Amino acid sequence: MQSHILLLGPPGAGKGTQSTRLAETYDIQHVTTGDALRANKQMDITDLETKYDTPGEYMDAGELVPDTVVNTIVKEALSEADGYVLDGYPRNLEQARILDSMTELDYIIALEVPESDLLVRLTGRRVCPECSETYHTEFEPPAETGICTACGAELTQREDDTEETVKERLSVFAENTEPVIEYYDERNELTRVSGQGSPEEVFTRLTSVIEDDWLARV
Ligand code: AP5
Repeated sequence: MQSHILLLGPPGAGKGTQSTRLAETYDIQHVTTGDALRANKQMDITDLETKYDTPGEYMDAGELVPDTVVNTIVKEALSEADGYVLDGYPRNLEQARILDSMTELDYIIALEVPESDLLVRLTGRRVCPECSETYHTEFEPPAETGICTACGAELTQREDDTEETVKERLSVFAENTEPVIEYYDERNELTRVSGQGSPEEVFTRLTSVIEDDWLARV
């Protein structure tokens, strides 16, 4: 079955970690605005007459990239995907309304993690610049410190994972993206799942939500 899954949650909730696993397990696309924007950080958006000239400047400040840029990325990615897990979008009510007009979702799941854990998760995150594998210095360390277990490249820290920028991202989430979660909740379309515990435990919770629903439908 080709599912259309939306994974919501604050920065550091584990959306990327879990989306990667869901995409592999269900053989669907992982559509992530964060990765797409990181690959286009230097894109010239001066035509839009926005505050900054590139997506990267918004990202490094912890602010949202303008909707026009992000909506175009998502529209194109979803039109090419049969099934998908969408991660990082929508991040405000305007994007949620645009998404309504683009596609129909089968599962809308919000990962919930206490704010005190998020800062620790994000400042300890390390990523592989070659293959995008994600680690945590304490919770998911690579076999050799600082080296990607999957491909052997040297791990780096995301530029927006400094304590100061993480705090700004969390406040942008509270102001812009919490209302999106409420928007789906009010329509009774949202399932809340705890993002605490090991990545394996969280993954088991997510697949239970999805597969229990499949069973209920047959
Ligand atoms: P984006 O890349 O989407 O960042 P985010 O939403 O802030 O989410 P993160 O990637 O930081 O966290 P995550 O939930 O994926 O956690 P992860 O699995 O990595 O966006 C970055 C920027 O791009 C935004 O600030 C904005 O500027 C721009 N942008 C993106 N989308 C946009 C949009 N729609 N509109 C406008 N602008 C947009 O896990 C985090 C760490 O925790 C890792 O180290 C991991 O190993 C560890 N971890 C994961 N699970 C567990 C667990 N269960 N226990 C312990 N540790 C865990």
